[in-house]
Amino acid sequence: MEPKIISWFNQSKKWVFDAGNIIRQKLKEEITINTKSNPNDLVTNIDREIESFFKQQITQIQDHRLLGEEGDFVHDTQGYIWILDPIDGTTNLVTTKQDFAISLALYHNGAPLFGLIYDVMRDELYHAITGQGAFLNDQKIQAIDPTLQLNEHIIICDFKEIIAYPRVAELIKLSRGHRRYGSAALEIVHVATGQAGAFIHMMLHPWDIAAAKIIAEACGLKYSHTDGTSVNVFEKGSSLVAPPNLHQEIVKICFS
Ligand code: IPD
Ligand code: CA
Ligand code: CA
Repeated sequence: MEPKIISWFNQSKKWVFDAGNIIRQKLKEEITINTKSNPNDLVTNIDREIESFFKQQITQIQDHRLLGEEGDFVHDTQGYIWILDPIDGTTNLVTTKQDFAISLALYHNGAPLFGLIYDVMRDELYHAITGQGAFLNDQKIQAIDPTLQLNEHIIICDFKEIIAYPRVAELIKLSRGHRRYGSAALEIVHVATGQAGAFIHMMLHPWDIAAAKIIAEACGLKYSHTDGTSVNVFEKGSSLVAPPNLHQEIVKICFS
């Protein structure tokens, strides 16, 4: 990896920790909550302030652009593009005040360079630099045991997937159980660390998955759409993330 990329990674790690400090401080104050596309699609002053914090940093690097959930859009994949979800899990931020993350990734001409996901309240940083493996708090994430069977795995999805694909309910019956935390980025990295066996979601956006896909793939997981086709993080769509053997089994049980 080129030194300038390592230097951007180190800078971004500092930004993420600084942003975490800002969020923890802001949570002690009153939060302003607004709705976006529907009454459950929330945005707070914290989401907006954190995106603006990252924008200030990123725009200081010449020719780097920001694609962020709260209003920073790009319409092509040329050059260096940072993809940011300032808060993934805003509903958790305003209710349980835990299980939310900052998700940040850098892509060059559409190719992944690195991704970071920071679980703010647990102070846990997941990261991967392309070609260098994935890490949790700078400790290498160990490879998942490929011999584990479906009945030894937790499946993460929402009730929306269970309603849309009744065979997902059958899959859950064959598994060790079902979980859902409300932050796609954290849910995907929990599959990467082996805390869950698979993650299924019908509709995610670039900022939800840009960092998580890099980390998941660095851990040897297969990351695809639910029908098994490949995912372009710059486009919205479904996600199915699991170790390769389980991934194949899930496509067969639920989506073929
Ligand atoms: C949401 C979370 C949630 C997922 C939604 C996302 P947000 O992101 O990741 O788990 O089910 O589709 O929009 O709105 O909290 O950034
Ligand atoms: Ca999100
Ligand atoms: Ca968000």
